[in-house]
Amino acid sequence: MYTPYPENMMESIKKVEATRAQRMKTEPARLTADEKDSLLKAFHPDYNPEAFAEIKVGPNKGQKAPLELAEMLHSTSRLLKEDIDLTKIDYDVDVLVIGGGGAGASCAIEAHNAGANVMIVTKLRIGDANTMMAEGGIQAADKENDSPVQHYLDCFGGGHFAARPELVKRLVMEAPDAIRWLNELGVEFDKEDDGRMVTTHGGGTSRKRMHAAKDYSGAEIMRTIRDEVLNLGIPVVEFTSAVELLKDEKGQAAGAVLMNMETGDYAVARAKTVVIATGGAGRMHYQGFPTSNHYGATADGLVLGYRAGAPLLYQDSIQYHPTGAVYPSQILGALVTEKVRSVGAQLVNAEGEAYIHPLETRDVNASGVIRECREGRGVEVPGGQKGVWLDTPMIEMLGGEGTIEKRIPAMFRMYMNYGIDMRKVPILIYPTLHYQNGGLEIDGDGFTKVIPNLLVAGEAAGGIHGRNRLMGNSLLDVIVFGRNAGKKAAAKCQQVELGTLNLDHIGAYDAELTEAGAATGEVSPKLLPKYARHER
Ligand code: FUM
Repeated sequence: MYTPYPENMMESIKKVEATRAQRMKTEPARLTADEKDSLLKAFHPDYNPEAFAEIKVGPNKGQKAPLELAEMLHSTSRLLKEDIDLTKIDYDVDVLVIGGGGAGASCAIEAHNAGANVMIVTKLRIGDANTMMAEGGIQAADKENDSPVQHYLDCFGGGHFAARPELVKRLVMEAPDAIRWLNELGVEFDKEDDGRMVTTHGGGTSRKRMHAAKDYSGAEIMRTIRDEVLNLGIPVVEFTSAVELLKDEKGQAAGAVLMNMETGDYAVARAKTVVIATGGAGRMHYQGFPTSNHYGATADGLVLGYRAGAPLLYQDSIQYHPTGAVYPSQILGALVTEKVRSVGAQLVNAEGEAYIHPLETRDVNASGVIRECREGRGVEVPGGQKGVWLDTPMIEMLGGEGTIEKRIPAMFRMYMNYGIDMRKVPILIYPTLHYQNGGLEIDGDGFTKVIPNLLVAGEAAGGIHGRNRLMGNSLLDVIVFGRNAGKKAAAKCQQVELGTLNLDHIGAYDAELTEAGAATGEVSPKLLPKYARHER
């Protein structure tokens, strides 16, 4: 007998198998709006008051943020006591892009193509980013039965009507062109024999508009645009962090102070326009959640922008992807793509009940998993963690033999590495910290509203997805808003006259912290997660 799991898990699998034939005939009903609301309020981590603190200083003073983010916003600049010679310019460019993920790379390509002198600075390597980790796909309404209006409605509704309309409009209207651009650059999208792109549903989509490269869509996209950056000869300064923004006496963004991650040496980058494309915050492990994010996801851009005076939007709204791996422990928190549900797997509790529709929006499904586990219908793994099943054998029963290896080969390999054949047995999941719905506030063109010549693109920007993002709208957002930021930054820099560089804002921010009695004594941005054990 095939028994890849401990005994208690195998016992539960018997119940899952016993209900499978019936479940395959009837999908669980969709929840009503009221049912979703009460589920979210009772179980979504965003509703846990103990996990948030009031922001004591800056433009969002009085609002709440996750404890770890509030702590970073209440920390001081590592440059406060440094004597940096701002007249010694190490890099002098038109457009400085901070971040080497999907948004940063797309931005740099477009800025370069518009004739600007652009440079990327990234604290790890170009492509070490959440874009690279994205799996399931990228949305675009480019089929006959679909339209950007339909896409808009899905996105706006899925985000609890909180998204900024001008941003959603740009996202959905420019989506088909984003797909065309990527396709022409060489992204190997899944296609039918006649060349049409294969599209599937994601949670909360009313049409099949998820374009994918198997279940490594992000890696395929990042590979392609990274190659384009390198082929165009755009300078990329790797293993170097932007640790503070620079301004001039007119209050314009004017570059950044960079820190070599190996030596700790500082350098000054002067720029006529600056684009923050630093990505997410999963490695801050809000509320102790594991994460699907890459190693450098520590909210750096939010700290840099905020300290310089740029407001945040929806900084208290975090996305927990419903299906992170919970067993085996070696892959705890790793993303189990929503595409596993798009191609047929149901969410099933320890008793073998499909307790929710598998393609409810993410916040709803994450809350559902948490409820099942808290109310005693979860499956316990060694170590005490709980999860629910994703009934993956259904995929081949519905779609035919070979579907798993064809459509989700990376998932198949990830589990086979641990001797778990997802074609034969279900896999166990629990929510994982996946995405920051909020970020720095931008206008419809990607500029921050307060600091001239400062733009934000990708996950560091807030307002595009409201308070919950749909699957596939993040890969889309990094391309649409990354490209847009590159074009806008290149155009803007032609009008910019820079004055004398200064770091005055860091002293002013520190004074505010002291006055508010909020200073933590720590420095931020954090740059890398702290995983080392320290003796007390
Ligand atoms: O489930 C996933 O593949 C994740 C996609 C996304 O966050 O857009």
